[in-house]
Amino acid sequence: MIRQAIIPLAGLGTRLLPLTSVFAKELLPMHGKPGIEYILDECIDAGIKQVIFIISNKKKMIKDYFYSDKFYKKIIKKKKDPRIIKEYKKILKYKKMIKFVYQNKPLGTGDAVLKTKKYIKDNFFLMLLPDDLIIKNNCSKSMIKIHKKYKSSVMASMKVDKKSVSRWGIYKLNKKLTNSNYIIDDVIEKPSISEAPSDKAVIGRYILPKKIFSKLQNQKPGKGGEIHITDAIQSLIYNGSKFIAHNFSGKYLDCGSMDGYIKSSMEISKL
Ligand code: G1P
Repeated sequence: MIRQAIIPLAGLGTRLLPLTSVFAKELLPMHGKPGIEYILDECIDAGIKQVIFIISNKKKMIKDYFYSDKFYKKIIKKKKDPRIIKEYKKILKYKKMIKFVYQNKPLGTGDAVLKTKKYIKDNFFLMLLPDDLIIKNNCSKSMIKIHKKYKSSVMASMKVDKKSVSRWGIYKLNKKLTNSNYIIDDVIEKPSISEAPSDKAVIGRYILPKKIFSKLQNQKPGKGGEIHITDAIQSLIYNGSKFIAHNFSGKYLDCGSMDGYIKSSMEISKL
């Protein structure tokens, strides 16, 4: 059973400057709702019971968003506005399921994952990258089903333009299990076009095994001097762990760049 999810939120968001100079990118509104709430709703709908937010001192604003009880209570007492009461109840529902941990140095996604080590209870957990929204189909829910069926780690996959491979983690696929699920032979973080084993990219949804923590503990920095989760996954695969790439059926929205954020907001408003 997958009951816990983790979300790395300590990233600086430089691709969204100037918006992120004073604001957490994950709280930027998309059709009147912070991006992070879409991710939380995906988790809740997929049956997740606890979500671990990895934030930093610079991004305390994210915690404040869920811990503004005093403010809400005062306003509600004064105004009794049903809309505000409803919004506050929603925030309370989220707050109950979120735990905060800190990653104060931006050393990479792998390092962020390591910060959650002592809180992960089961053998597998879900990770969602908040820059990647997937709409029209709950990708986490589909991946949990695949995990149950194959008792394996699962990662989201999407075909990308061959020219853009150096932006992504890229899979080397092996056996086809079904039309949308493949056993992975290898995964390479941000390869050059000539190094890339395919045009199938990692998208930010992962069902990872608890044993990844022991890999991360000894892991050297990789591309760009960061500790990448992709490198730990590669090492597990080389040691014989089974990973499945799941070609999801929803629509992918990139919210991490300015252009992507603008386009994603427009797409979401059409839903
Ligand atoms: C991260 C991962 C990469 C993956 C991508 C998906 O990269 O390291 O493997 O393909 O997310 O969005 P980042 O976006 O942090 O550069």
